[in-house]
Amino acid sequence: MKTITLFPQRPTKDVEDLFGIFFEDLNHAADGGLYGELVQNRSFEFAPIDREEYHSLTAWRKSPEIGWNVETASPIHSNNPHYLHVHADREGFIANEGYNAGICLEAGKEYEFSIFAKGQGQITVAVAEFSEAPASKEAERGTSEDPGEDPSIIRGTLRPVTASAALPISADNWSKYTLTLTASETTHAGRLVLTFPAGTDLCLDMVSLFPADTFRGRKNGLRRDIAEALQELKPRFMRFPGGCLVHDGNLDKTARDSMYRWINTVGPVEERPSRRNNWRYNQTLGLGYYEYFCFCEDMGCEPLPVVPGGFNPHKGEGVDVDHIGEWVEETLALIEFATGDENTKYGALRASMGHPAPFGLKYIGVGNEEIGDGFFERYPYFHQAIRDKYPNIRIINSAGPFAVGEGRDAGWRSAVKYGSDLVDEHYYSSPEWFLANMHHYDDYDPNGPKVFLGEFASWGNTFYNALTEAAYMTHLEKAPAVGLACYAPLLCNADYVNWAPDLIWFNGHQVVKTPNYYVQQLFMTHLGNQEIAFEAEGFEAAMPLTDEKSISGAITIAGNDVAGEISDIQLTVLPLNSPAAFSVTRENEVHTVAESVTAENYALEFSFRRSEGRKGLRIVFGKKPGEDTYLLWEFGGWDNWDCNISSFVRGRASTISHRIFHVTDQPYRLRLEVSGRRIRTFVNGELMNETVDRLPELEDLYISASKDTAGTVYLKCVNLTGENKEVQVNLPGFGGKTALGTLLTGGLSGENTFEKDTVLPKEFQKALNDKGFAHTFPAHSVTAFRIG
Ligand code: AHR
Repeated sequence: MKTITLFPQRPTKDVEDLFGIFFEDLNHAADGGLYGELVQNRSFEFAPIDREEYHSLTAWRKSPEIGWNVETASPIHSNNPHYLHVHADREGFIANEGYNAGICLEAGKEYEFSIFAKGQGQITVAVAEFSEAPASKEAERGTSEDPGEDPSIIRGTLRPVTASAALPISADNWSKYTLTLTASETTHAGRLVLTFPAGTDLCLDMVSLFPADTFRGRKNGLRRDIAEALQELKPRFMRFPGGCLVHDGNLDKTARDSMYRWINTVGPVEERPSRRNNWRYNQTLGLGYYEYFCFCEDMGCEPLPVVPGGFNPHKGEGVDVDHIGEWVEETLALIEFATGDENTKYGALRASMGHPAPFGLKYIGVGNEEIGDGFFERYPYFHQAIRDKYPNIRIINSAGPFAVGEGRDAGWRSAVKYGSDLVDEHYYSSPEWFLANMHHYDDYDPNGPKVFLGEFASWGNTFYNALTEAAYMTHLEKAPAVGLACYAPLLCNADYVNWAPDLIWFNGHQVVKTPNYYVQQLFMTHLGNQEIAFEAEGFEAAMPLTDEKSISGAITIAGNDVAGEISDIQLTVLPLNSPAAFSVTRENEVHTVAESVTAENYALEFSFRRSEGRKGLRIVFGKKPGEDTYLLWEFGGWDNWDCNISSFVRGRASTISHRIFHVTDQPYRLRLEVSGRRIRTFVNGELMNETVDRLPELEDLYISASKDTAGTVYLKCVNLTGENKEVQVNLPGFGGKTALGTLLTGGLSGENTFEKDTVLPKEFQKALNDKGFAHTFPAHSVTAFRIG
């Protein structure tokens, strides 16, 4: 008989803000996503620096009668330098295509149009579909040489989906005009159409269309369905505005491709500069720091902003330490923006934007996935200044992009040295890595800085991925050293994918909540303030999923965007299936060194000299025939910053050893040693990597339990096995109460799509007797109970 006995009277850990969300504007998560703006390139600021094919008229087109020029002579504001000058001898129109297949409107709903204009004339505003398809999508989008020209776009092709509204314009200087449109029918392919009479000569900018029904009705607000999906997670915090988006950029705050500098994102929307988003698109910054804080307030969660630390690991360049003061001051100003009263400079700025009361701020992160001394030299300046002025704010230091290794270790060393409150760890791994590393945090010091697992996910959006994440979260919940955790990435517009998997997928009118979403939701909605003790009896010990004691299979070598010579290859087990010397080229062709190594222990050694290229080599070992399962030694990986070992299971990578290393053109003697599942690499005789490729195992049932201040008890159980588990849950003292259960179950490969949801939560109830209640946890399921 399996029993779980819960002891609410024995708290084991405070969980405070444990589970939250992480918002980054990648995959068009903000513009074309959460941010409610329906017009793409509303201020004619798109430029090739954002993305090669962008230009000032991207997403705009015109009918043949219209003459237009993008001008800069007298803009609304110097931060928003481009505007459109429209002139027409005959009536004609311009149209904006929005995002995805077009602007989405819902029949009967209202939409708020606004525009800045200058001159004398009239604009007739409507949303319409083109009843005939444009000659081609390319023609519709235009190019920088031929923006928006397409003779097939004529008035007769327009089919209005809102009534037209006329807007008289009479202004010598830039003035804002507004009107409301009502959709007469639903469309997913609308175009915002502005029609001008003969004789028009007008300047236009900030052409905008928002649903009136934004989340919480805020102006310049958020798309309601996406925002509600986030709110329904009940996050306890939101990390923003991004990961690499924060630090991948120019050190000059005024540069178009600057790092994410919060100060550029506040104030009147028409005065905010456009920004190159490092995910290769344009960021309007219409969704800026003020809007992020408001959103956190609306969701009832703690804002957790992350500021750049004056160092860009993508380029290996940092602000001169003598000038770090400006960055530190900007961070203190942000804290004042969030916490200062109206008499402070930045508190007054916040008040001027519509929020006189402080938002409050409990956490601040400095840096994202930082590797290299450059960041850690600069971090203490931020740390000390924040600590001195705002001693109650919890400061989050940064670790590298992997669960283990040199980047991670440097972050922790710095955090311990300076007394950071938390350290931001990130990793994306195979489900098997999560199954093999459930006890990852057991050895962390519970009395040191706490872990902020600021980005984690298993590679995939199937129910199997979600189950492994759920199992891992039961351990995160219990581990004394873990303070905060959030899945990443959060949002993806399905037509603009930079990164997958993601928690929520959407297009212009639909939102898909993945199985991973429902797991996150279950964990956030079934969490008290304190973990409680429990005893699990009658359960089996964790079972290995495979008994592969050694790393056997093929060994191959390929260049990684380099040309060079491999020579003097030696393999301690035979046969060696390649000549003792060969060349690698920038074609990255793969050379098989040994077709099938079956020995438990072996070593490969060879000389390498790079003659051309920027990176190094990819040495694959233990490659299974016909499967994408292997170990990879990457000598000079990611931008030539790494010397890593990664374990791939069916194509999904987990980095299990990380060293910072830059391959140069000098001669190298490389050695790989495999002993069972232990791996070591040597470069010119020096130990470089040392790790164990741990095998996945399954626990009989993954369990966590907590309680809140009202005495409600939460129990979560994850059954990853293929068998139902009958369990007696003992909870003395709760007789007569009800356990409200939520169950997630399904096929392991089940995914939710725009067409069909295959994994959805189901609710049920159990009555408790004096002992508790009996329950059968179905095979492949996550179950959460709220009892009390
Ligand atoms: O979440 C996607 C990216 O992954 C983040 O920008 C970065 O921090 C990490 O590498």
